[in-house]
Order: sequence, then C-alpha cells, then structure tokens
Amino acid sequence: MNRTLYGNLIFELSKKGRKGYSLPQDYDRTHTTAELPEALRRKEAARLPECDELTVVRHYTNLSHNNFGVNDGFYPLGSCTMKYNPVINEEIAGLKAFAGLHPLQPAVTCQGALEVYYNLQESLAELAGLSEFTLNPCAGAHGELTGLMVIRAYHEAQGNKRTKVLIPDSAHGTNPASAAVCGLEVVEVKSLADGTVDVEHLRQLLDEMGEQVAAMMMTNPNTLGIFEPHVLEITEMVHKAGGLMYYDGANLNALLGECRPGDMGFDVMHINLHKTFSTPHGGGGPGSGPVGVRKGLEQFLPTPRVKKVVVNYDSESEPSEWEGFMIDWGTDTALGSVGNFFGNFGVMLKAYAYILSLGSENIKQVGPLATLNANYIKERLKDDYLLPIKGLCKHEVVFDGLKDKSTGVTTMDVAKRLLDYGYHAPTIYFPLLFHESLMIEPTENESKETIDAFIDVMHKIAEEAKTDPELVKTAPHNTPIGRVDDVLAAKQPVTTYWKALENK
Ligand SMILES: Cc1ncc(COP(=O)(O)O)c(C=O)c1O
Repeated sequence: MNRTLYGNLIFELSKKGRKGYSLPQDYDRTHTTAELPEALRRKEAARLPECDELTVVRHYTNLSHNNFGVNDGFYPLGSCTMKYNPVINEEIAGLKAFAGLHPLQPAVTCQGALEVYYNLQESLAELAGLSEFTLNPCAGAHGELTGLMVIRAYHEAQGNKRTKVLIPDSAHGTNPASAAVCGLEVVEVKSLADGTVDVEHLRQLLDEMGEQVAAMMMTNPNTLGIFEPHVLEITEMVHKAGGLMYYDGANLNALLGECRPGDMGFDVMHINLHKTFSTPHGGGGPGSGPVGVRKGLEQFLPTPRVKKVVVNYDSESEPSEWEGFMIDWGTDTALGSVGNFFGNFGVMLKAYAYILSLGSENIKQVGPLATLNANYIKERLKDDYLLPIKGLCKHEVVFDGLKDKSTGVTTMDVAKRLLDYGYHAPTIYFPLLFHESLMIEPTENESKETIDAFIDVMHKIAEEAKTDPELVKTAPHNTPIGRVDDVLAAKQPVTTYWKALENK
C-alpha cells in the first residue's frame, strides 16, 4: 500500500466535487431537513473532505495499521486492564436474535434476552457475595456514581445527614470525582509506606467525624495491586461509625475464585465488566459497570431489573404455569433508571458468554492465574527495576522506574522504547505514590512464552539504558511517528484540521 499517499490526512486527499456515495434519484431532502428547527440548521455547508470510496477505504485501512490492540500483541497496561476479548463473545453478542432487539419490545417477545439479563444479575451477585445487582450503569465510573447515589438514598431514608466519603490517597481518580459529582465531600485517608490503608489514620478520622461519614470507598486489591490486610477491621470500624462500605470492583479479577467483597463486609460495589469479564474496554464507553448491594439495600438500586416470575397461562392446550422473566421498572425505587434503557446489553452478553465459557470451576482460576503471572514478572524484573513494595502482589505489579538512576533514563523513556519492540507500554506515572511508577498487569490470559519474551525485552532496555542511554531517551525509532511532545498535546490540543491550518 502507498503509505505516503494514503497516509495523508483525509482532508489532504480531498478533491472538490469528488464523491464516495450516491443517493437514489428520488431521494427527498426536504423531508429530512424539515424536521430540524431553524436554529439548529447549518448556515453554511460543513467543510467535509470529498473523496472517492476507494481512497477513503485505503486511507482508513492504512490508519488502522498504525494502531495497536490486544489482538496485535502484549498489552501490559496496569490498572486499566487490557484483557483479551474472546471471539466467541463477539459471535454471541452479534446473534441476530440479540442484536436486533428493540428496547421497547414487549417482554413476552424477548424472554431469552431477559433470561440472559437475569442470569447475569444472579451470577454477579453470587461471584460478589451480594444480594442483588443492577446492570444499568454504562462504565466503572458510572457505577461508582450510581453506587454512591444508592448510599446517599439509603442515608436519606434513615433521616441521616451524612455527607463525607473517606477515600484512601491511593484510590483511582474516578473515586473522588464520583463522590464530588454525587454532592459528597471527599476526605482523604493516608496510606502507609507499603501502600495499604493507614488504619490508625482512619481511626482518627472516624473519631473526629464518624457521625458525618456516609461511606468509605475502597479498592481491594488496591491500585498498587496489594491486598489490604486489614480489610475486615476497616469494614467493621466504618460500620460501627454508621457508614457504609463501597467496593471499587475494578480489581475484582484478582480475587475471582479466592474471596468475595460481600464476605469482606462491603455493602455496595460496582464491577468493571471489561476488566474482570473480558468485554471491550471501550475508552470510557460503551462499557458496563453493574452495581450490587447487600441484603437490605435492594430497594435503593436503580431500575430496570429483570425478575423471574411464574406465569399462569390460561389455556387448555398449554401448560398452565411456566417460568418467565419480567422487567421491573420499579416505580417505587429511590433512583429510577441511571442509564439508557437496560444499559449496554451487548457488553452484558459478552460478559455472560465469558462466565459460561469458563464455567464455575475454571472461573476460580482467574484470580490465581492473574496473580501468578504478575508475581512471575515481579520476581524476574526486580534486579533491573526498582521494586518499592516487596512481598506478594495480586494481579499487577508496580516498579519505581529503573533501579540504576544514574543513567537519567526515565519510566517514560522505557515505555517509549517498548513500542520499538512491538509492545504496548505499561501504565506509567500511576499510582502517584512513586515518582517513576511503571505498572504492569499481564492478566490471566497470557502464555508463559509471551510473558518471558516481554521480560527479555525489559532486561534488554535496562541494558541499553546503561550502554546507550540516548537510544532509549529518544525512542521510539521504529514507529510511524517518533517521540511526540505529550505535554504540549495535553495542554494545547488541536482537534480539528481547520484549526490546525489556522495555527500554521
Ligand atoms: C481502580 C479503578 N476504579 C475505577 C475505574 C473506572 O472505570 P471505567 O474506566 O470503567 O470508568 C478504573 C479504570 O481504570 C480503575 O482502575
């Protein structure tokens, strides 16, 4: 393919008057524009590129070759978890009987889909050790907000004026953001040097403001991949003060088959389906962040929820009773619906396909395998990369950059050099607890050969940092675009072609 030609911007390939489409002769434009209010109509034509179909196809095919995904190679992004999405998931979600459903279709005509919905609600409740789930929220962060709204509704129903949410300083940024959006006040709980919650600081905060605490949000294993050793003590302390415990289920994959948030004393949680159940991450959506609650809090969950019912069928030729599924739009629940109709049903189908394809026995291997892979990487890299937290990690491992700091090669440089070797970079500069964080999450799906090859490259880069630091500092060298000024890109993003031309 001619990359020089088709790799140009689509605007640069544009030729005035050229078209890549044709409309039927009798196409009636008046009908489509008549429905738009005058104020919303364009005053002048949009400056769209004008290209023939083949140029468009080649241009975008070309662009897609510059992309990198889990299907291209190892993608060790910590915390954000880029997990392989099995093809069977896609096939099932693409079945016409599911993909062709209309959200307003009468329940009696889509009993199969409702059964899947119901079964997923039940499976998540079982895996989490909680009572009920809503599948409505459309991302992990959306789940956090929903869960906090559940907690707020619970306290309001008790007549409690509790407005504070305790959040460890190691938490993912979405935790304080969700609390703030929910109108709650964030109070930071300090971490100890090993990254776990400082229980004494928590005790102090509860002594000072216990009766104002609505909840504590916790991620376990935390964002450093460490299992919180005092989790039982913590949930007990917060409950004693009258607060609820919120579990950020982003790292649930590390615990699958080992233990359950409900059994640790958590009251409300969300699950990022993409991290634990292999659905596409979706760049902030379209994802799915189901929210579960313990017994006694079900009435505060948003709707819709699917219920199993026994239908009495009054006909002589049919059985008089059969099991069916109905949609509970719950007019009397506190929150109503938080998402669009049922949430992202296609994503739920993929998660359910993953659960069924593993089965109740194999699913217990997810947590142990993810943990084994991360610890294997940790042990094999710790001589070259600085390991600030010793001991067992769970599904991800955090290094604090290269061990040898004398070369001046930073975590950013290592991440960029990895691109030259055909790997996606790990998560860098998160968690914020260390200056040169480099966080690797292999997930449970990777083979030993893949992990070994990655480890070899990491060793090679550590060696290059000593022998030829400039090579690493100026990487990447083998990618379509070299080192970009990411600070400039973040501070002054130019997101349209016409704007870019004006700036020239
Ligand atoms: C610990 C933690 N909490 C919450 C989130 C937010 O989830 P989502 O990206 O699905 O909104 C993430 C995402 O990476 C996370 O790592």
